Amino acid sequence: MTLTLRNIAKTFPGGTRALLPTDLDIAEGEIVSLLGPSGCGKTTLLRIIAGLETADAGASIRFKDDDMTHQPVERRKVGMVFQSYALFPNMSVRGNIGYGLKMQRLPRAAIDARVDEVIALCRLEPYAGRTITALSGGQRQRVALARAFAPRPRLLLLDEPLSALDAALRGTLRDELAALLRQFGITAIFVTHDQDEAMAIADRVAVMSQGRVAQIGTPEALYRAPETAFVARFVGNSMPLGGKIDGGTLHLPGGDLTLNATATGKAAFVRAEDVKITADGPLTARVETVTFLGTHYRIALSGATDAPLFCLHQGLTAPKPGETVRVTIAPHAILTLEPEKAAA
Ligand SMILES: Nc1ncnc2c1ncn2[C@@H]1O[C@H](COP(=O)(O)OP(=O)(O)O)[C@@H](O)[C@H]1O
Ligand SMILES: [Mg+2]
Repeated sequence: MTLTLRNIAKTFPGGTRALLPTDLDIAEGEIVSLLGPSGCGKTTLLRIIAGLETADAGASIRFKDDDMTHQPVERRKVGMVFQSYALFPNMSVRGNIGYGLKMQRLPRAAIDARVDEVIALCRLEPYAGRTITALSGGQRQRVALARAFAPRPRLLLLDEPLSALDAALRGTLRDELAALLRQFGITAIFVTHDQDEAMAIADRVAVMSQGRVAQIGTPEALYRAPETAFVARFVGNSMPLGGKIDGGTLHLPGGDLTLNATATGKAAFVRAEDVKITADGPLTARVETVTFLGTHYRIALSGATDAPLFCLHQGLTAPKPGETVRVTIAPHAILTLEPEKAAA
């Protein structure tokens, strides 16, 4: 492994345990996302890797054979991109990108050559002479990335770099950022609270909850085989079905569903895209609301399960509110997981 994190924990003065002992291994050129709700410890872990925060005693951070654990920030050869960008507003794009190289006291010609190279790579040529205040949010984001990459870091750390942008732009820039990071070929850790962003950008996603990594895996593995209710809910918005599992059958208020394995005592979850309205379905439900969303209808159903059940329905027509419909869920689409502990 290229980056090896062992026993990384953080207790802030005052006693907040922001991070419980955490291990993480990242391969050369791999892009790993830390995904989790606000306050789960993502930024704390990133700042510890960068050297901006010290971990509790007993931690180890290694990059290949180099023990970084006690190195100061400037020796770690880590590039950082923040949500706020932290660019120098009155400096030009070139000035910002060359800043880290100037701090390294490289000769003028070497700085110019590297800045040209990174400007071309990030397709910033048309803006090279502009000041930061004359750029759009998306352009600033690309300059921040270029500035972090210019000094040839061995590791790039990005903390919610797209969160300051509006929703429409975020989708486009997400794909652009994913492509650029792959072009750089750099090892990177990307922090986000947005599951779509994590899945689009990362090779592997570490889902975090309350200071620990709940599960790490490829986007496909996390989506198809979540190991806990928290991961099932957070990655792909699984809904709890309620009812009661007895052997290979799930008994629900609106009928029975067959599972693909016995799972007595477990809790069942499903995603809205796996809930199908079909004439011979085993569940009976009442249509509550129907919302047309272009690619599909989002339909709220009652009576089949204890809580409202949502269905993403594709087709030219949809049932109407008040109608009774039959519903099915394929056995493989029902996730059976340990029941969640009731909130304290
Ligand atoms: N400097 C600090 N002092 C005290 N508590 C902090 C400090 N920084 C973060 N925390 C707390 O640590 C927890 C994790 O924070 P953070 O790593 O910023 O979460 P995230 O980036 O996932 O939103 C939160 O409860 C937060 O309030
Ligand atoms: Mg954060």
